[in-house]
Amino acid sequence: MHTSTKDTRKRVLLTGANRGLGLALATRLLARGDRVLATCRAPAAADALDALRDAHPDHCHIVALDVAAADAPVRLADAARAWLAADSDAARIDLLVNNAGVLKAGERFGGIDGEDVATSVRVNAVAPLLLTQALAPLLADGARVANISSQLGAIGGVTRFGTPSYAIGKAAQNMATAQLAQALGGRGIIVLALHPGWVRTDMGGTDAPLAPEAAAAGVLEVIDGSDDADNGSFRDWKGDAMQW
Ligand SMILES: NC(=O)c1ccc[n+]([C@@H]2O[C@H](COP(=O)([O-])OP(=O)(O)OC[C@H]3O[C@@H](n4cnc5c(N)ncnc54)[C@H](OP(=O)(O)O)[C@@H]3O)[C@@H](O)[C@H]2O)c1
Repeated sequence: MHTSTKDTRKRVLLTGANRGLGLALATRLLARGDRVLATCRAPAAADALDALRDAHPDHCHIVALDVAAADAPVRLADAARAWLAADSDAARIDLLVNNAGVLKAGERFGGIDGEDVATSVRVNAVAPLLLTQALAPLLADGARVANISSQLGAIGGVTRFGTPSYAIGKAAQNMATAQLAQALGGRGIIVLALHPGWVRTDMGGTDAPLAPEAAAAGVLEVIDGSDDADNGSFRDWKGDAMQW
């Protein structure tokens, strides 16, 4: 009789893993035994992520990546292919978290700078779309793709002027999520737009009610609990449906 031990460890690719929500996600994923390819712009300055890798040397691999760079999709796919091949030819990514994001603070109507809008769209929307496209052949059938969105990207929720560059970037990301859900759904891949809550990070500020650890726990619970019916949906960290 042939006996096989099923490899239940998940392989996760996470962008923007050096601080904030990304670091909390990496911490939690590694604590539960997953293997993580963690990207950040400047590994040499990523002390907290470095310490995490030291604590999980076999499970954490760090790759330098500016998600908005023109060659980012090709470079990340190459790095992911090499990372997977070190395990086995059949290894695939079980979860891709497009977490890296940027928010331009202090924008005023009358002074919106087109470059800020373009940067937001590039980092918050174009990057998740193109990185996911490039990684698609390396995703397992039935994998999850979590695009970290924001309630500020919900067009139906706009009641005041504020952070237009960010809001436009996240609204565009939401459309990218809907498009990716259609492109990948046939393989059983579930693509989600996830609002992590208002989180105490450099972006969320010190008044934010949610600790990064709590937001990360919620986001991962929603991802783990998702099924085919959730493909292309927009949810918050508690799993509640968000308006688009
Ligand atoms: N905090 C909140 O309340 C809140 C609410 C809703 C949604 N979100 C979303 O949650 C995600 C994480 O946010 P956060 O609160 O953890 O923000 P954060 O503390 O400002 O961290 C942002 C992360 O994104 C990375 N990043 C930015 N631009 C990048 C680029 N071009 N290439 C690669 N990495 C880049 C940063 O890397 P560097 O260190 O190199 O800059 C950093 O790792 C974002 O998508 C954000 O929009 C946050």
